[in-house]
Amino acid sequence: MVQPIISPSILASDFANLGCQCKKVVDDGAQWLHIDVMDGHFVPNISFGAPIITSLRKVFPKDAPNPVFFDCHMMVADPERWVEDIAKAGGDGYTFHFEATDDPLKLIKTIKKFGLKVGVAVKPATPVESLFPIIDEIDLGLVMTVEPGFGGQKFMPEMMPKVKLLREKYPKLNIQVDGGLGKETIDAAATAGANVIVAGTSVFKAEVPKEVIDHLKTTVNS
Ligand code: DX5
Ligand code: ZN
Repeated sequence: MVQPIISPSILASDFANLGCQCKKVVDDGAQWLHIDVMDGHFVPNISFGAPIITSLRKVFPKDAPNPVFFDCHMMVADPERWVEDIAKAGGDGYTFHFEATDDPLKLIKTIKKFGLKVGVAVKPATPVESLFPIIDEIDLGLVMTVEPGFGGQKFMPEMMPKVKLLREKYPKLNIQVDGGLGKETIDAAATAGANVIVAGTSVFKAEVPKEVIDHLKTTVNS
């Protein structure tokens, strides 16, 4: 059985209070932090890069008893270029977009060489079958449930057959969903077989984030 993992997207946090807000969601039960790196090329938006990860790492040292996994979602046009920087800044996982590279296997090798876990993401229009030939080499498959680029968008339930197919074929794979996840949409994602739940707006903008985190976790488990 795969474990339920909640990965709040820091894109929805108040950047002026990033450390405190992340500490709160981790204290509230989130095991990962989802770090959305956007370059203004692969997606029509710019967010932040390695320096933010370096700062945040000081709040969550890697040698802590329960280290927080930094789940870096690289929405960038040239994913080969940033592996070293993200590794040095303290990233743990490097999820690149299948659409952004011509040579996924070579990129996977580089990511592993720098000691990072490998994730591969597919945009809504990309068939999930694209991941099958490389699946043995990856730690996580990310099925986007919105067009990448912005937080606060509407969950696309029509992506659930992709999750279902991936889960049927790969019972032990970490399957992540990202975009529009919250109390109203988690049932569909959990039923389809997702176990790593990215949630930005629904967690960081909640009155009681713990209640949302608990709800997401329990639903994945049930
Ligand atoms: C979208 C990002 C998501 C986003 C999720 O491009 O990859 O991680 O921040 O935000 P919500 O949960 O608000 O849809
Ligand atoms: Zn993301």
